[in-house]
Amino acid sequence: MFSVATRALRRPAMARTFLAAGSSASVHTLPDLPYPYNALEPYISEEIMTLHHKKHHQTYVTGLNAAEEAYAKSTSVKEQITLQAALKFNGGGHINHSLFWKNLAPAAHDGGKLDNGPLKSAIERDFGSVEEFKKTFNAKTAAIQGSGWGWVGYNAATKKLEIVTTANQDPLTTHTPIIGVDIWEHAFYLQYKNVKPDYLNAIWNVINFKEAEKRLAEVAK
Ligand SMILES: [Fe+2]
Repeated sequence: MFSVATRALRRPAMARTFLAAGSSASVHTLPDLPYPYNALEPYISEEIMTLHHKKHHQTYVTGLNAAEEAYAKSTSVKEQITLQAALKFNGGGHINHSLFWKNLAPAAHDGGKLDNGPLKSAIERDFGSVEEFKKTFNAKTAAIQGSGWGWVGYNAATKKLEIVTTANQDPLTTHTPIIGVDIWEHAFYLQYKNVKPDYLNAIWNVINFKEAEKRLAEVAK
């Protein structure tokens, strides 16, 4: 989906043609959650999931479409430059949340279950143990100042899993995202208040390691 945005950034002339031909209708849409809003209880409340998906993610989608439309109509490089921040913020928000929903799964199903396999082996190789991996991830992401994202990323150069963070809605571009965790307050405050470590400890119960292993298999060939 975001490839349309990327094309718009690289080839504004084509984007203009595309939007003119397809009217100003939204290009990007809010993806459905792969589970019900209450499916991640008690670790992430139904209220958080509903607001997070229907309101927050929708806002990024709406903002991205508006920025792309303005970009397509722009008539100068200066105008296009002024739109870069909106494209980055809303485009990043859309990419990150689309990854995040798939990162999660109900604890009654796949959530929290890390079976023996390539992902577990890679975690043990790169972090010593699963427990050490979670501890390191939680410590690094809890230290994010302000809003951002915590990532388990695959580094193509070192062929290792690494824990990295990004600020605001910046997408992960230095690594391939294997697991991403939203560290914005809107992701946890209604349930965990200011206690970010409790949110981070809880979320491992609903992390979809099967999805993470699938992502790793696609890049670590
Ligand atoms: Fe979020």
